[in-house]
Formats: sequence, C-alpha cells, structure tokens
Amino acid sequence: MPKMYITRREVFSASHRLWNSDLSEEQNIELFDKCANPNGHGHNFVLEVTVVGDIKNESGYVVDLKKLKNIIREEIISKVDHKHLNHDVDFLKDKIPTAENIVREFWRVLETKITKAKLSSIRLHETENNIVEYRGEE
Ligand code: NI
Repeated sequence: MPKMYITRREVFSASHRLWNSDLSEEQNIELFDKCANPNGHGHNFVLEVTVVGDIKNESGYVVDLKKLKNIIREEIISKVDHKHLNHDVDFLKDKIPTAENIVREFWRVLETKITKAKLSSIRLHETENNIVEYRGEE
C-alpha cells in the first residue's frame, strides 16, 4: 500500500521565559539573553503534526483529519494557547520551555493519543525563521 504523510497545522499564542534555575542570573543572561526577560515574552507558534500510514480502502483516507485536529486541539492547543508555558502547563513543569523541549513533550502526549496512524514528526515554528522538528528519535 502507498505510504502517505498527512500534516495538520495549528497555531497558538503563548509566553515563556528561558531560565535554568541551576545557574546564576549572570549565567542565565549570558546563555539566554533577551529570552531570560524576567516576565517572559510571547510568540505566535505554528505547530505541524505529521502522521504516516496507508490509505484505508473504506474511506480513501489515511486518517480523518477532523479527528486528528480534535486530538491536537484537545490534548495540546487547549492546554498551551494563551498560557505561560513556565507556569500553566502540567507537562512542561520543570522543563526549560525551549522549542526543543516543547516539541519533545508534545510528542510524548500525542504519541499515546494518536492511534489510527503513526506519528511521524512534529514541527514547531517559534518564529517565521526558527523551526524545530522532532521525529521521535532518541
Ligand atoms: Ni521565546
């Protein structure tokens, strides 16, 4: 069967602060610069979730994108949109909320919820120019 990659795109707005509490203030500013701003700063994030699978004979779909959309909105978007990622999101507690760490935690959440196809990659656009992609590889 032909293998197809299907992507759902979602957007959310959130704030974060990059800070490592094991380091001094001076070290944090050296490491994170403006991203260590005490009260955080915001981004309009773009999230792309790609799944891979075979076309089902019955539907002609790999996955029903409405169902994929609902999973992403329920499990991710509703928990991060208009939130402060350092304080408001259970699955990001005790993580430095870089795009890398955010994507890794999104993967952990979605991997268990997406059952009709295989999660292939998650991309997070933090800005127009900065994009992180994770394919579940350790
Ligand atoms: Ni930032």
